[in-house]
Amino acid sequence: MRAKARPWPGWFITFEGGDGAGKTVQLRALAAFLRKSHMTVVETREPGGSRLSEAVRELVLDADHDNMSPRAELFLMLAARAQHVEETIRPALDAGSVVLCDRYGDATYAYQHGGRGLDKGAVVSMHEFAADGCKPDMTFLLDLDPQAAKGRMAARPGQTTRIDAEKAPFHTRVRDAYLELAKREPKRFRVLDASRSVGIIQDRIHTALRQQGVFGR
Ligand SMILES: Nc1ncnc2c1ncn2[C@@H]1O[C@H](COP(=O)(O)OP(=O)(O)O)[C@@H](O)[C@H]1O
Ligand SMILES: [Mg+2]
Repeated sequence: MRAKARPWPGWFITFEGGDGAGKTVQLRALAAFLRKSHMTVVETREPGGSRLSEAVRELVLDADHDNMSPRAELFLMLAARAQHVEETIRPALDAGSVVLCDRYGDATYAYQHGGRGLDKGAVVSMHEFAADGCKPDMTFLLDLDPQAAKGRMAARPGQTTRIDAEKAPFHTRVRDAYLELAKREPKRFRVLDASRSVGIIQDRIHTALRQQGVFGR
């Protein structure tokens, strides 16, 4: 079955889920696979993905800003997104690339509404304003119990960001908000059990993309 007509020749694919769920591992593997199939791939991330947006990322994730208000956090995330869409994502989609993005709008809903408790309607409409009509064709939600994710993070080198450092109930609310979104938009979302092996998850991603017509059967 071929997907319905999209507003651009490229494909916009996002990876969502809590920290430690395996987004980066899967995104990199998929990028390598698609490149082998001679597709042009742009790997990017949020917050970030453009010079200005990466500068905002530094600010918003800096553990030193421990008194950042949730509304300030939301505005910074959305400022980063607006520039990312304008400068990186939309031009790549218009040029026919496959854009693989590590977190996007669903993360705003999950973290700033689910996690922080900001008003749902405000978060949704402000994201839509920042995204300017740029909506993923497909979203992979790597779903993992926050305790298991924490264990993986402990084994992974690197710093803990201001948001990762939140306590367990925060991460549970984030997970629940993601699952609520996936239920609401079953066509766009594929929920993947992130406790499975890297290879099994990879196979599921390939199958979903083949069904969607991103690459040949
Ligand atoms: N399916 C998996 N099973 C076991 N460990 C995994 C799996 N996927 C990723 N990991 C490991 O878990 C850690 C977090 O993975 P990563 O891709 O960095 O997660 P994220 O980008 O979602 O924070 C890494 O050390 C990675 O090697
Ligand atoms: Mg990552």
